[in-house]
Amino acid sequence: MSSLMPAPVIPAVMVPDTAEVLARAAPMSRNEREQLIARIRQLLRKQDAVLVAHYYVHEDLQMIAEETGGHVADSLEMARFGHEHSATTLVVAGVRFMGETAKILNPEKRVLMATLEAECSLDLECPASQFIPFCDAHPDRTVVVYSNTSAEVKARADWVVTSGIAVQLVRHLKEQGERILWAPDRHLGSYLQQTTGADMMLWPGACVVHEAFKAQALAEMKRQHPDAAVLAHPESPAAVLDLADVVGSTTQLIDAARRLSQHELIVATDNGIFHKMKQAAPDKLLIEAPTAGAGATCRSCAHCPWMAMNDMRGLAHVLETGDNEVHLDEEVRVKALRATARMLDFARSLKASGTAAPRQA
Ligand code: 13P
Ligand code: SF4
Repeated sequence: MSSLMPAPVIPAVMVPDTAEVLARAAPMSRNEREQLIARIRQLLRKQDAVLVAHYYVHEDLQMIAEETGGHVADSLEMARFGHEHSATTLVVAGVRFMGETAKILNPEKRVLMATLEAECSLDLECPASQFIPFCDAHPDRTVVVYSNTSAEVKARADWVVTSGIAVQLVRHLKEQGERILWAPDRHLGSYLQQTTGADMMLWPGACVVHEAFKAQALAEMKRQHPDAAVLAHPESPAAVLDLADVVGSTTQLIDAARRLSQHELIVATDNGIFHKMKQAAPDKLLIEAPTAGAGATCRSCAHCPWMAMNDMRGLAHVLETGDNEVHLDEEVRVKALRATARMLDFARSLKASGTAAPRQA
């Protein structure tokens, strides 16, 4: 049984226009770019800092992360890497929940973000003030939240999970006979419900980027590229996922691009991923899945406006000034740590054996 929750009415989210965000940045000469890269490298060393970037941020940031011993990854691997790295400062290029997750796991480290303006529609659509009473009203359900949530929401959860391990975790909970309250992404939630058969109640949030992919236009694109495989992130609507050959986290989609025999790949996720995907599969033709179809509008047009707020100037600034440090209320952090650490433990156990039982509460 899957059910969308009768209410709550989630808040309307102000979504910045990605093109406007990108246009805000003053143009940069080649000389300035090279000087900035050199300065960031030097500052990272001087500050004993490591840069942890998501695949959706600008390729210059990805390049700097990799060249300086940092990491470019999905949200699960960003959390793991930051936690295991010895640097005393973690600099997160991504969105707020990624910086908060780093702080939840690493209270002794300084966590800086290239920008503090970078939100996530899933996080914004699941305010703790609505979420907590809702959980309280359903005490019989195990609360599983996507990592794309605030520390306060994680603090109320039994489990935190990312798309990389969500199917395995929900299947595991189902096998334990647990009924799930899932938040905040309704598309990922219904995909999990369909894949595992678990009894899930779904919070009605969505990712503004993935929700804009259009199934009808995608079906038409498939007709024009009959040999292409479709790769989709599970935050996409069900009708898009129904057309996909591979559904997975950003890392899983990059791996699929490398592994699949098809030469043409239609990709339904943020187009920031193309930088890494091209490196992983240089011979493949990568095609953006359509975000415009009959009557469609898109503000993000396959690129997250909040991810687009991360840039090299911001990164150099925070390394120079210590601005944009992530601070969390200690009581909230400690509560959020329980469900977040369980996620890392569960991921570790899956990696070790594929079947090992996760840490229990
Ligand atoms: P991944 O964990 O798959 O990288 O997803 C994070 C995200 O925000 C996707 O929109
Ligand atoms: Fe959130 Fe969607 Fe942006 Fe990912 S792409 S950070 S889910 S708004």
